[in-house]
Amino acid sequence: MQYFNIKNTDLSISSLALGTWVFGGDCWGGVKEQDCIDTVSAAIDLGINLIDTAPIYGYGASESIVGKAIKGRRDKVVIATKCGLIGIGAHIKHNLDPESIRTEIEESLKRLKIDFIDIYQCHWPDQNTPIEETLGFLCKLQQEGKIKYIGVSNFDDKLLQRACDFTKIVTLQNQYSLLEREIEDKVLPVCRDLNVGVLTYGPLTGGILSGKYKTEPNFKPGDSRSFFYKCYKGEEFNKTKKKIDELEKFKRPLNQLAVNWVRQQAGIASVITGARNQEQIIQNAKAFEWYLSDEELMEISQVTK
Ligand SMILES: NC(=O)c1ccc[n+]([C@@H]2O[C@H](COP(=O)([O-])OP(=O)(O)OC[C@H]3O[C@@H](n4cnc5c(N)ncnc54)[C@H](OP(=O)(O)O)[C@@H]3O)[C@@H](O)[C@H]2O)c1
Repeated sequence: MQYFNIKNTDLSISSLALGTWVFGGDCWGGVKEQDCIDTVSAAIDLGINLIDTAPIYGYGASESIVGKAIKGRRDKVVIATKCGLIGIGAHIKHNLDPESIRTEIEESLKRLKIDFIDIYQCHWPDQNTPIEETLGFLCKLQQEGKIKYIGVSNFDDKLLQRACDFTKIVTLQNQYSLLEREIEDKVLPVCRDLNVGVLTYGPLTGGILSGKYKTEPNFKPGDSRSFFYKCYKGEEFNKTKKKIDELEKFKRPLNQLAVNWVRQQAGIASVITGARNQEQIIQNAKAFEWYLSDEELMEISQVTK
């Protein structure tokens, strides 16, 4: 495994991180708790230290499972969780109001069974709360020792700059993959300028970049691949399939090619890949046994530009 030191911090995070949205179960067709616990174990054994979760993943289920899985191994992991998405029935509200965050963090700490969170991230922007108000409260949580570092997620370049003007933001977590390259133009350069470590999510765009869908899949409503990732339906699926057919010509395991393409871009601190079982995280970590050449990187970039 490789590690990335985030500038001006004592954070050394693995360049592959374990994402645990799938542990929530509800949006990913269900999971078995023991499989999730074994996945965390396998990840730690592979040298992966960064584990990303959120209260909204399965309405607390993901954090609870992570809490059980890291028991006795707290010193081996960097825990990144989030605040600011509140589930109200099937509806999700963005809320970065300090009072709401106070409730969220106390519950996260209980579920994770830890005393402090290493990286506490604003999950999505909240139009109703000035970011300075949120960050002022997160600084207070730092002083209380409940969180060590502050991160943000799904922020654009302007909001990130505004956040960095207020306090130290160590990481930005946004979607980035061969199929979703929006952050390249503005967000990545700002992160490089401001020494913000980039954590990228969705390297397989929910699994499609493993190459396993030969025909259009049919996910239930409410499954993340029906509402969050847009490449699984109709014309979008057909367009994506054509790109995947091109990528397969590189004769590399597709999941590893997709992980390597992201991790080899400048400024990427860690690639967060979701895994529902040990085998998936082991397969994704194999990407770290080799590199794409500069020529391959350029050619692959052209396929999905
Ligand atoms: N900040 C945010 O707003 C945000 C948003 C999304 C995700 N995230 C974080 O980023 C993490 C990663 O994103 P993600 O889980 O959505 O997407 P992803 O990593 O692109 O895809 C993960 C899914 O792909 C499939 N998969 C993984 N490895 C595979 C392999 N080797 N072969 C075949 N299939 C494989 C699994 O689903 P199946 O087994 O069902 O196919 C797995 O759940 C999340 O878990 C979460 O921690 C954050």
